[in-house]
Amino acid sequence: MKEEIILALETSCDETSVALVKGGKEILSNIISSQIETHKVFGGVVPEIASRKHIEAISFLVEQAILEAKINKGDIDAVAVTNGPGLVGALLVGVNYAKAYAYGLGKPLIGVNHIVGHIYANFLEHQDISLPAVCLIVSGGHTHLVYLTEHLKYEIIGQTRDDAAGEAFDKVARAMGLGYPGGPIVDKLSKEGNEQAFQLPRVRLEKDTLDFSFSGLKSASLNIINQAKMKGEDIKQEDLAASFQQAVVDVLTEKAIEASKRKGVKNLLLAGGVAANSSLREELMNKSREEGINLYYPSLKLCTDNGAMIGTAAHYKYVKQDWSDLKLNAIPNLRL
Ligand code: KG4
Ligand code: ZN
Repeated sequence: MKEEIILALETSCDETSVALVKGGKEILSNIISSQIETHKVFGGVVPEIASRKHIEAISFLVEQAILEAKINKGDIDAVAVTNGPGLVGALLVGVNYAKAYAYGLGKPLIGVNHIVGHIYANFLEHQDISLPAVCLIVSGGHTHLVYLTEHLKYEIIGQTRDDAAGEAFDKVARAMGLGYPGGPIVDKLSKEGNEQAFQLPRVRLEKDTLDFSFSGLKSASLNIINQAKMKGEDIKQEDLAASFQQAVVDVLTEKAIEASKRKGVKNLLLAGGVAANSSLREELMNKSREEGINLYYPSLKLCTDNGAMIGTAAHYKYVKQDWSDLKLNAIPNLRL
């Protein structure tokens, strides 16, 4: 069978990304236009500005992605788009553009859940992953443990009850005056710090739960920062960054391994922006090896938001002819 080419759009937050993906595994182009510089001055994403920036960029990026892929518009077999979860105004830009484009080409439209896109960043690079598997998805908006029985069939077996892991990174980094997004900065600083310098809580909740809670860790970190400010003392930022990061990594690693054991799976996937964290990748790899589990994670560029992961998730829907119709809407709190 001829491998299809999917045009995939991602506009759920602060990255406008357009990709062309062939057969779910070959990236013909994957352009990511980040708005981070624009939002940085506000310390976080401003939804209204995000929507406007997506509108400014999207047509140009689609043309550019087609040029880079060295294909013609007529070679596109389907148009995929993230339709949730995310910022409603931002999502609408992609959804409306994709609908018009698919209609104009006379080709199928495929709505993709953003979280599913993150999971499928793994299948973009490792098509050999056999199912069932467990996936830990850790991003700015989500922290989920998912049991994948077959393609596009998943059961949520754990999730955060308050802050997402990435959100905790961003909030603590912000309080430390490190800038936005905080995750990559904390990751870098931690390499120079002592992770035992501050005693921070590892919240595990009830004995049998695979749920997470990061708000206590966040508050404990903010308390340290505030108390030091009140006393006029300086904190060694590298040490606080390392101690905070270690607390997040310990809990994520423990629960991901526990989930894999409980489900009896040999394959564990890591996905989402926080999957780019060097310490999480290392610790989870070490623990997985000890337990005889195969750990997969996407390359760094494919951990954070990008169109290619949406194109790969769409491939599995394309194969099943699971199309969306032109009533497809942006759903800010779309569930898995
Ligand atoms: O998946 P993503 O691009 O967007 C969402 O769907 O939320 O994830 C962004 C999140 C941010 O919170 C960012 O701080 C975090 O991923 N992040 C990291 C690292 N790189 C990105 N967190 C920890 N360490 C990193 N290296
Ligand atoms: Zn994301």
